Amino acid sequence: MTETLEVIPHPVSLIESMRAVGYSIEAAIADLIDNSISARASTVEVKYDATSEPFIAILDDGWGMEPDELTNAMRHGSQNPTDTRDPDDLGRFGLGLKTASLSQCRKLTVVSKRWEE
Ligand SMILES: Nc1ncnc2c1ncn2[C@@H]1O[C@H](COP(=O)(O)OP(=O)(O)OP(=O)(O)O)[C@@H](O)[C@H]1O
Ligand SMILES: [Mg+2]
Repeated sequence: MTETLEVIPHPVSLIESMRAVGYSIEAAIADLIDNSISARASTVEVKYDATSEPFIAILDDGWGMEPDELTNAMRHGSQNPTDTRDPDDLGRFGLGLKTASLSQCRKLTVVSKRWEE
């Protein structure tokens, strides 16, 4: 007799382990800029401060996200890689925003506003 078991990944361990997938700082920032380009941004600013409370901020003027889109965007695997995407969409795995950012830091803040239609 065979038995099928559901083995749900442990989210805390998985997110911690995925911090170590091997992004360089350049590749991590490039992954975030890819997202800005996919969102039709015409300007992307990269700001950083390396003093006592260091941060890197990626600011774009792309189409942004509605609150529910932003909530989903923060989920690892936010979109299935087998889904058909817009040909101009540089994303594929539904991971980059989270894994690229958290490879470089422990605190990620995303603020977004959707373009007015
Ligand atoms: N700067 C942004 N402007 C608007 N939407 C964004 C932005 N960054 C991310 N998103 C949205 O969040 C989703 C998740 O981004 P994430 O980078 O995690 O995955 P992805 O781009 O779909 O795939 P990949 O893992 O290959 O980068 C994107 O598909 C997009 O819908
Ligand atoms: Mg991406």
